[in-house]
Amino acid sequence: MQLLVAADCRVEVCTSPDVILSNEQIVSLIGHKCDGVLGQLTENWNHELFEALKQAGGKGMSNYAVGYNNVHVPSATERGIPVGNTPGVLTETTAELAAALTLAAARRVVEADVFMRAGKYEGWLPTLFVGHLLQRKTVGIVGAGRIGQAYAKMLVEGHKMDLVYYDPFPQPAFEKYLDGYGKFLESQGDEPIKWRRAESVEELLPQCDVVSLHCLLDDNTRHLMNEARLNMMKDTAVLVNAARGPVIDEVALVKHLKDNPTFMCGLDVFEDEPLMKPGLADCPNAVIVPHIASASLYTRGGMATLAAQNVAALVNGYPVWNKQDI
Ligand code: DGY
Repeated sequence: MQLLVAADCRVEVCTSPDVILSNEQIVSLIGHKCDGVLGQLTENWNHELFEALKQAGGKGMSNYAVGYNNVHVPSATERGIPVGNTPGVLTETTAELAAALTLAAARRVVEADVFMRAGKYEGWLPTLFVGHLLQRKTVGIVGAGRIGQAYAKMLVEGHKMDLVYYDPFPQPAFEKYLDGYGKFLESQGDEPIKWRRAESVEELLPQCDVVSLHCLLDDNTRHLMNEARLNMMKDTAVLVNAARGPVIDEVALVKHLKDNPTFMCGLDVFEDEPLMKPGLADCPNAVIVPHIASASLYTRGGMATLAAQNVAALVNGYPVWNKQDI
């Protein structure tokens, strides 16, 4: 807010108590005169909203998120309205949450917490909440952009996990890091980690004890994890999603979790947020949190600053700081 005022903007803040605004509400907020909008991922920026913004004299839209699947970019482009997002500032925070979900799911932390709070603990037992060890197992990442790589480094360095990555593009700097880390382990008299780039998601899935999704949501990745691909994973695997909900077919996932009690998942995102598909909340082998991967004080401040800088730049006729770059 202060940043926008300092940039000579008159700021109108939406005061609706609704968490999710309808397009009708957003059109009415845009009104007849609006130079730019700072919006968020719960909004559906389609042709209707970009047309309303254009009619109001809008020069830009800034998305308070790195993901921009809520923005129909062609509708913005054909109206000459640039769009900004918030890459970079949430990489480590998002990766940390994905790592937290991985550990919580593998070691059944939430189930055990619920058990304790219910006063059910009667004493140590060899079979109580037995989960999966990550050390020296294999982690797979689908999407090796900034967040995927940061997550991979946490598991490779923290748990000496072997790594398989799938990304349409080879990542030479990342591969150099993986080689270097292997050499470092060797220099310590330890086994080096092994890594490889898979040619396809199908190749990656059966090899991995943990699979974490870090791809963007588009027509190629919607329901990427469908019933057939879930069935390619190990029965004891952990599936993590801190990317976008629709990358997983959630109905198929619920069935898979119910049929395979040793299969675990950690989810930050859901297909129809804020809703969950029926049955998911009843699966003890799912750790579920409400889209909080970037929710650290530091990161939310960084996102706010970047989103405000983007909109201030656009309304003052400068190029956006970060345009569609994730
Ligand atoms: C993003 O920025 O895309 C996250 O999902 C929300 O922080």
